[in-house]
Amino acid sequence: MEFKNNFYLPPMAKENSIDGIPNPSLIDYYEEMANKGFGLIVLEHAYVDVRGKASPKQMSIDENYDEKTLTEIRKVIQKHEVKAIMQIAHGGRNSKGSEIKFGASEEEGVLELSVEDIKELEEKFLQSAIRVKNMGYDAVEIHSAHGYLLNQFFSPVTNKRNDEYGGSLENRLRFLIEILEKIKNEMPDYPVFVRLGACDYVEGGNVIEDAVKASKILEKYIDYIDISGGITGFLKHSENELGYFTSEAKKVKDETNLKVLMAGGIKSREEAQKLLDEKSCDMVGIGRAALRKDFKL
Ligand SMILES: Cc1cc2nc3c(=O)[nH]c(=O)nc-3n(C[C@H](O)[C@H](O)[C@H](O)COP(=O)(O)O)c2cc1C
Repeated sequence: MEFKNNFYLPPMAKENSIDGIPNPSLIDYYEEMANKGFGLIVLEHAYVDVRGKASPKQMSIDENYDEKTLTEIRKVIQKHEVKAIMQIAHGGRNSKGSEIKFGASEEEGVLELSVEDIKELEEKFLQSAIRVKNMGYDAVEIHSAHGYLLNQFFSPVTNKRNDEYGGSLENRLRFLIEILEKIKNEMPDYPVFVRLGACDYVEGGNVIEDAVKASKILEKYIDYIDISGGITGFLKHSENELGYFTSEAKKVKDETNLKVLMAGGIKSREEAQKLLDEKSCDMVGIGRAALRKDFKL
């Protein structure tokens, strides 16, 4: 995929949808962001299943998705020669979509997903990815970071399963891999990104060696990986410094053939360019700083 530059807008939930249907004002918002000069915009997370809705005003890519508005959003982004991709997600134990929450393992207020549930959700991810493609988006991104469902499976802190989806790293990654296999079988040429919660930054959690091992498995299925981390959010030890995932991203870049994206604490084109020049990653994201009205690349 060709981008006009290597700067991207990372997904940032606007919390502006009702029953999953995006407010039409999001069309103007995404056009405003496209005008800021990014080569790529990743739309905020959309839920693949209402039971995995992470916040009350999250948008849907499940069966009730708003094809018309989401297609309009795609068009206003691409009009500015910016690539548009949608991030699809399931909140797992962090969901707020129904009374009952599902996660990798049982805990208070959370039920463990059965293998049958997992297979059903894999199909939900696949159908959502097909919708994204059919609406003309350049790619789909699978959200496997920030403590959401697929991150819960990958992390040994939240995955205590004894079946083929728990235990070894390969098993903890199986759910994500099966989703990727399904998408690749159905749409072999469609680009897929994964946002990976690379390291957990808590005791007993995934560390950089796990992230590299996982990335080496993932590169059989995808070309692009967006390195993020932290199972309780998108920060590392509450850090907010320039490029706080740089060492993780660089390691994955050095040890795989994946194109590596990275966001976190970067505020300007100059800062982003420096990270590219140092070959820390292939694309740099600027999120919160880009929300300022006067921000321009
Ligand atoms: C308001 C807000 C909403 C976010 N929503 C998402 C999201 O939907 N999906 C996701 O993967 N990350 C989300 N993030 C994390 C960002 O993509 C990004 O990783 C984070 O803001 C760090 O980059 P920055 O320092 O450039 O803002 C969100 C962050 C913020 C501030």
